[in-house]
Parts: sequence; C-alpha cells; structure tokens
Amino acid sequence: MSFSAIVLAAGRGLRMGGNKAKVLHCVAGRPLLHRVLDALHEARQVYVVVGSDASPITQQLQSYIYSNTESLAHSAGGFVDLGFQTQTIDLPSYYVAHQHKALGTADAVKAAFSNSIQAVYQDNVQTENQNNWHNTILICNGDHPFLKKQDVQSFLQQHQKSNSTISVGVNQVSEPGAFGRVILNNNIVKNIVEFSEATADERKINTICTGLYAVQRQVLEKLLPRIQNHNSKKEYYLTDLVQAAADEGIEVQAIQVADSVAVGVNTQLQLAQATRQAFLAKAHALLDKGVQIIDPQHIYIEDNVHVEAGCVLYPNIYLSGHTRLAAHCVVEMGCQLNDTIADKYVHFKAGTYIQGAYVHHGSQIGPYARIRQGRIDKNCQVGNFVEIKNTHLQQGVKAKHLTYLGDAEVGEDTNIGSSVVTCNYSVDRKKYKTQIGRDVFVGSGAQLVAPLHIGNEAVVGAGSVITQNVPDKALALERSQQNIKNNYKKTCKDEVD
Ligand code: UD1
Ligand code: MG
Repeated sequence: MSFSAIVLAAGRGLRMGGNKAKVLHCVAGRPLLHRVLDALHEARQVYVVVGSDASPITQQLQSYIYSNTESLAHSAGGFVDLGFQTQTIDLPSYYVAHQHKALGTADAVKAAFSNSIQAVYQDNVQTENQNNWHNTILICNGDHPFLKKQDVQSFLQQHQKSNSTISVGVNQVSEPGAFGRVILNNNIVKNIVEFSEATADERKINTICTGLYAVQRQVLEKLLPRIQNHNSKKEYYLTDLVQAAADEGIEVQAIQVADSVAVGVNTQLQLAQATRQAFLAKAHALLDKGVQIIDPQHIYIEDNVHVEAGCVLYPNIYLSGHTRLAAHCVVEMGCQLNDTIADKYVHFKAGTYIQGAYVHHGSQIGPYARIRQGRIDKNCQVGNFVEIKNTHLQQGVKAKHLTYLGDAEVGEDTNIGSSVVTCNYSVDRKKYKTQIGRDVFVGSGAQLVAPLHIGNEAVVGAGSVITQNVPDKALALERSQQNIKNNYKKTCKDEVD
C-alpha cells in the first residue's frame, strides 16, 4: 500500500557514548540507518529527520541511495569485469528534514512537516512536490535494526484493515528495560508511559512501544502541536500522541509486531547484542542453504555477502561488503575478505586479508596473504606473506613466498620466486608498472625496478636488481663476482687468538 515514511534519526545517542550519531553505528557492518531504510522501499517518500550535525547522516543516506542504484563494479577493486552486478531497485524519493535541537520524538516529527526539507533523491517516476504527503504516514525510529519490509507491509495492512486512525506497534518482551510501557485495554492503547515517568507498577508491564506508528496525516498534523513537554526530561514525546488522541475521542490501536522489530539500540551493549543476533541469523541462513560452517557462533558474515552451497567456512572469519563466494570455496581460520569475488574451488588459507579482489576458479591464496585490488586468474598460487596490490596474475602464476607485487601484470604460468619485489614507487612519488610475460622465471630475491617489461620465457637470476627491459627468452643477471677465500674461518680465528 502507498504511504509516506518518517524516520527519526536526529537523537544525539548520548547513551551510546562518543559523539557519533546513533543511526550511524553499524550492526554487522551496516549502519542502523541503512537497515531501517531497507524496510521502507515501498514508501512513496521517505523523510529522514536529522539533527544539528546533519552532514554525516545525509552522506550515509546518499551512499545508501548510490549503493542501491549503481553497479557493484564501482566497489570491488575497480575492475569493471567483475561479472556480478548488484540488483538495482526502484527507490522512493528521499528528503532530509532538520530538527535543530533534539527536543524529543514528537518535535522530530514536527520537523518533517516544517519547511526545512531538503531533497536528496527524487524518484524518476514521481516528480511530485515534496510536500505532497500521502494520507497514511508511517513513523519509525531509526534505531530498530531488524525492521523489515514484510513487517512494515503487515503492520500497514492491519492498520488499513481495521480502519484505524492511529496504530502503534507493540511487543511483549521478557526484559523491557527502558522502553516505553504500553497500557492496553483489549487492543486499544490507553497510554504509553516512558520509563523515566513510570511508577514501579507500570515498570512491571512487559508490553513495550516499538517506535513504529501509522497515522492519518491530517490527524497527525492536528495533534502534534498539542503535545507538551511536561515531563522529567522536558522533551516532546511522540508517545503522548495517545493522550492527545484520547482528548479528541480518537482510539489508538495496538498492533502486535514480530519480536525482531522490538529490538532497539540505545546502548553499546544493545548494539553488540543486535550485532551478535545479525551474525548468527546470517550463519543460520547460510547453513540452511548448504554452506558448511564449522562453528556458527564464531563467524562474522555481513548481510550483503553471498556464499554458495558447498563452501566450507572455518571459525573466526569476517566476510564483508559485496563479497561473493561461488560453490566449493574454502575460507580458513582468521581470513578477512572484503569485496572479494571468488569463482568455484578457490581456497583462502588461514590469515588472508583481502580488500577488493576477483579470484578465478581453483586458485589458492595464503596462508597470510594480503591483496588490495587484485585480479587472480585460474589456478594461481599466492602463498604465505605475499602482498599483491593493483595487480593482475594470469592463469597458473605462482608466487608462493614473501613477495610484493604492486602495479604489475604477470603472464600465464610465470613463476615468481621467494622475496621478489616489484619496486613500483619511485623517488618522484609516482607509481610505475611492471609487465612480466608468460612462462617467465623470476629468481628469488630479484628486485624489479619499474617501469619495466620482462619478455615471454625470460629468466631473471636470483638476487638481481633489474632496471632495464628484458627481451623474450633472455637471461637477465645482475650480480657481482663471487669471491672465495679458502680457509677463511681458520685465518680469522688465528688473528683473534
Ligand atoms: C522511544 C520511545 C519509547 C519506545 C522506544 C522504542 C519516545 C518518547 N519514546 O524511546 O516509548 O519504547 O523508542 O525504541 O518516543 N530522535 C529524534 N529527535 C529527538 C529524539 C530522538 O530524531 O529529539 C530519534 C532518535 O535518533 C531515535 C528515535 O528518535 O532514532 C527514538 O529516540 P530514542 O532516544 O532512542 O528513544 P527511546 O528512549 O528509545
Ligand atoms: Mg531508542
């Protein structure tokens, strides 16, 4: 059903500590704000109410819109042929509304109706005026990370079906903590009492307000100015809408929402608990799909990560961003893979750290390898303590020990010995490329000073510092004459004695 949504995101989040706006805190890698916005794709317009420090939230809103409208190619390593595209979706129009002082949740809703609105994204189809509110307004707090599109749908359906003027999402919880207590008579909300105002008896109530409301627009605009701040915090509580409605003889309906909707984040402890819950849910979803997870309690996989059936995931790994693992990949202990796209049968060995890579079928990476913006073709072997940056390894390349390959192109079946370094960064502070052909043998300890081209089937002698291009099939050797002093140890010893 069609509706306009208001997301309350202007609170200072004092209980979180620090000075970061609460909705920017991440649950399993995604800001609270993004999670709530996911639930509102079917809204006609979404108004995000921001506080005095508006710009970081506006930026997050922009990055949310960008990530839902642009292809994945922008995010993973800068390579355009990543093969996977994010699914783009039709988004609503987004606006930010400015609440200059955090005077409470009712005041935040007022800000959405003020003229401090700024358009951030206009839906292609809807070129309507930003004040063209829909008659049904959904209000939600920005700090409920597990609110989902289906929850919003079912909440609004019930609201509409019962012809309700105002509905509030409620839930029964065993530990109601500091949430607002809902006093019910049958399904009618008689009052919502904030924890700070509640009596000892009221605090025993375990039906809580989940910060989800559906209200007819005209009624909301009429009742909002009537809400006073006569309470211990001197704030305008949106929950006092119930009293304002009662004064007009309007009933407020309670709608039961899922337990997950009731999870709110006001403290670091609640953030950690929500994060745990999100990681566990993701692990369970992957187990259901046929992924082998050795210890689901100790694995950290963000929501946008895709892992196909037949993969094996060891404990203590962190998979983030747009990481995608095709079937039969193995990720061993302690790997951290961000924006990493792997074809089938790729094996990430223990301790590997990747920020943006595309790894083809059958390659082995690690243990303890590091890749930044790498493209690794089929059946490569990147071994221990190898660092790869902005580099393309063609199929069958081996670089198995203690090597740095930066800004390099390495041809098929080339062998890079131990401790080889591409010296890509020059004294002029510019980066230069190293091009190594196919079937080349680079001996251990070679230093390849870029810009440099090494031809096909060339050989570079161990320990050489190569500064000039090497033709196809040539041997390049840069090494001083070896001296031999016979009986040297004995002579030294005699001198000391
Ligand atoms: C609020 C409810 C409480 C409910 C709980 C559910 C009120 C008065 N209380 O309490 O009944 O059980 O949510 O999570 O509404 N915000 C603004 N501007 C402000 C203050 C807050 O935009 O001036 C935003 C916050 O960023 C947050 C949301 O409103 O996203 C809720 O504010 P918060 O301070 O978290 O309210 P709770 O104490 O959790
Ligand atoms: Mg809250």
